[in-house]
Amino acid sequence: PDNVLIAPSILAADFARLADSARAVEGAADWLHVDVMDYHFVPNLTIGLPVVQSLRKATTLPFDCHLMIADPARWATGYAEAGAYNVTFHAEAAADPAAIAKDLRSAGSRAGLAIDRDTPVEGYLELLPHFDLLLIMTIKAGFGGQAFLPELLDKVRTARRHIDTGHLELRIEVDGGVAEDTIAACAEAGADTFVAGTAVYGADDPAAAVRKLRALAS
Ligand code: DX5
Ligand code: ZN
Repeated sequence: PDNVLIAPSILAADFARLADSARAVEGAADWLHVDVMDYHFVPNLTIGLPVVQSLRKATTLPFDCHLMIADPARWATGYAEAGAYNVTFHAEAAADPAAIAKDLRSAGSRAGLAIDRDTPVEGYLELLPHFDLLLIMTIKAGFGGQAFLPELLDKVRTARRHIDTGHLELRIEVDGGVAEDTIAACAEAGADTFVAGTAVYGADDPAAAVRKLRALAS
């Protein structure tokens, strides 16, 4: 598509140099994807609100916060108040996703709904008007560097049909294993927003890697 957004995932960067890693993709990337994990929703622990608050002052890139946490109804708005452009939480962790989306928008951010590997998208299509973004995992959430699961693109196709038919204003983001050899298939399936961790921060020149990914998706 012609409205491609590339969001490098800071999860794959050196956690002792987060500010430098963010600045390394300024001017090339659209958003900075920030993966928040809590040892509960996923068996991994990454960064939380204090780090997001500090990093917010260190870069001009909009933050795309991806909350892989339990109880997003309690924690999600804190990330909006910290200045995140978009806050995405998991459908599997939320009793009332539309209520959280409303809170996020009131707190000043966009709202994203994430669907993990084993969750069918069909049950959430009716909720999409409450959201600005739908994140479809192309791995199981929890760790970077996993192999891309192409069968999950069927969910992207289903969501794309629903969004276009209903004339909804919603981005479709893919996350997990998105790289030079997989991004075109994601774009063909209907994604317009692409998270890439290893493919960006594993490269010698992260900004050049972002430009290459954008060209392959466009
Ligand atoms: C994993 C995270 C991803 C991760 C992707 O649960 O949500 O954002 O950083 O990493 P790669 O691009 O290496 O698969
Ligand atoms: Zn993510």
